[in-house]
Amino acid sequence: MAQSRPRVWVSQPLFDDIVGQVAAHCDVRATPEVTEYGQDAIAAALRDCDGALVTLNERIGTDAIAAAPRLRVIANVGVGYDNLDVAALDAAGIVATNTPDVLTETTADLGFALLMAAARRIVESERWLREGQWKQWSFSSMLGADVHGSTLGILGMGRIGRAIARRGHHGFGMKVLYHNRSRLPAGVERETGAQYVDFDALLAQADHLVLVLPYSPASHHLIGAAALARMKPTATVVNIARGGLVDEIALADALAQGRLGAAGLDVYEGEPAVRPELLALRNVVLTPHIGSASRHTRRAMVQLAVDNLLAALGIGPRAGHPPTPVTAKKTTAAVAGQGAAEKR
Ligand code: DGY
Repeated sequence: MAQSRPRVWVSQPLFDDIVGQVAAHCDVRATPEVTEYGQDAIAAALRDCDGALVTLNERIGTDAIAAAPRLRVIANVGVGYDNLDVAALDAAGIVATNTPDVLTETTADLGFALLMAAARRIVESERWLREGQWKQWSFSSMLGADVHGSTLGILGMGRIGRAIARRGHHGFGMKVLYHNRSRLPAGVERETGAQYVDFDALLAQADHLVLVLPYSPASHHLIGAAALARMKPTATVVNIARGGLVDEIALADALAQGRLGAAGLDVYEGEPAVRPELLALRNVVLTPHIGSASRHTRRAMVQLAVDNLLAALGIGPRAGHPPTPVTAKKTTAAVAGQGAAEKR
């Protein structure tokens, strides 16, 4: 009897030509419109599937996993995977994968763009100009903070953190400090020009602090009122990781009261909703989670997710060996996996 083709759910519109590679081997249930799902809808979508391509919008939890007896792989199109219950997937023998590497430089670019825009008040001054408020050139208007030669603090020194360090050190002559769960090898510190410091020293010394660490219950609101109080009142905070790392009310208070210079945010705790307290401020630059959003990189992310999916379903040249698994090696025996903290 002929074996039936695997069934695959694609949770959001991706790139049809790349997803077409899956359709050559599997029955694909595509999603033509950007869609918001509740937990029941996700469970219903996964129920009869062997695999799925999902994005950070879709939370894959224990109920959906328990209700999906055929499920073999969840291929997340994104490097961060706090939307997946990895322990539950692993326990059920389901492979979870993410998309590291391909988005590193693009996301680091956006981090630096936000840093420069916030520190040099680019968005604020552009809005001021458009509002017709520029009556005469003035020596003292729109004064910001220097980026070159300043001290860059990086919290989370995975791939993206290192790419930001290189930009700061080699491109802008910055002193680069970092804090990470573990100190990097000396060779990496040399190459990125970054010095390891403890969390308090990072907060106290950074002129610009960039957050690039993974979100987990342990890192929830790591940047809250206490941490902000230890920073320079002229400092900039940039978050390109996950919104939950920052207590946004404490951040908005510090920005409004001049206890912090500026902020650049690409991610939000309740996204796509953005707190009115942040929207009301001029000294914060807000972008809608576009860290990896270049045409080239978004295609590369979908391609990697498709490679992962097909490999985990036992299809193609890497059958059985998805390139970038995040579940334990027992489900991906021949693949060298790494810890979650190193995935970014
Ligand atoms: C990621 O990959 O984790 C980004 O936040 C989404 O592109």
